[in-house]
Amino acid sequence: MIKKLKSMKILIASSVCPDAIEELRHHHDVACAFNASEDELKRVVKDRDILVFRSGVQITAAVMESAPNLQLLIRAGSGLDNLDVDYAANRGIQLIRVPQPGARAVAELTFGLMLALARQILVADRQLRAGHWTKSETTGYLLRGKVLGVVGVGNIGTCVAEMGRAWGMEVIGCVENPSPTIAEQLSQRGIRLADLQEVLTSADFVSIHVPLTDSTRNLIGAAALSSMKPGGFLVNMARGGVVDERALLEALSQGRQPAGAALDVHQAEGEGKISPLASLPNVVLTPHIGATTVDTQREIGQRIIETVQAFEHQPIVSTRQ
Ligand code: MLT
Repeated sequence: MIKKLKSMKILIASSVCPDAIEELRHHHDVACAFNASEDELKRVVKDRDILVFRSGVQITAAVMESAPNLQLLIRAGSGLDNLDVDYAANRGIQLIRVPQPGARAVAELTFGLMLALARQILVADRQLRAGHWTKSETTGYLLRGKVLGVVGVGNIGTCVAEMGRAWGMEVIGCVENPSPTIAEQLSQRGIRLADLQEVLTSADFVSIHVPLTDSTRNLIGAAALSSMKPGGFLVNMARGGVVDERALLEALSQGRQPAGAALDVHQAEGEGKISPLASLPNVVLTPHIGATTVDTQREIGQRIIETVQAFEHQPIVSTRQ
């Protein structure tokens, strides 16, 4: 049976651009449930056709099972570690990701965090607020001439690598499945393909940009950290589970490498969660704000609207009577 859908029932389960929500509300029945528990999500998703979400919410099989009408998932960003992808695929629920707009924002923040580490910006700020003029102690390093090691030269990692070249850095990077073709493609962008071990041992700044999967969980554990170049800095922009934070805390507390670390993503995220790393002065922590620029979220919002429009106008074969 061919059925043309007009007004859709949409659940927005994460905070996305308010203008986009407003625009969707003109044409559709939109419910919002940010920071909802699984039980609450199961309740509000019941009659929904479309579910929009970012990171910070778990879209489990149980949540989707509660929504017999669910036909479309819009991942307003990149990572899929918070979605039961197999369940969605088995049920034929369409999944649209919007990874591109966030890449630039994540890459720019990577440099903000690298500079914060290299120039001790937050340390200096804290000292100054306490009345200490630490001009002579607050020394730092240039990015220019340093080796930037990108772990995961994908969508975001490539953007970081290209920015590194623009800062005058030597850029090396690793990928999960290296090949001569990938090496050639990267080399055309001024990035030298290396393996993870070489990235760790030779980079002054190691920046992590891999998705969280079974093969990347705790990728940067005690052994990887101890391989890092003495004086090197670590930046995690990927997912908390990729870096073993307990091992990182131990290495930093004992004055071993890395010399400092910046984390935008954490093993435990959310209101009230304080990382044990927060006690260390050479650590910079941000609350998973890589993609959270107004410009980026506006663009993602626009893409959500277009995706809903395209879906709304596409005649679909209904499996329901
Ligand atoms: C992403 O995967 O796109 C980022 O983690 C941003 C987000 O969803 O909040």
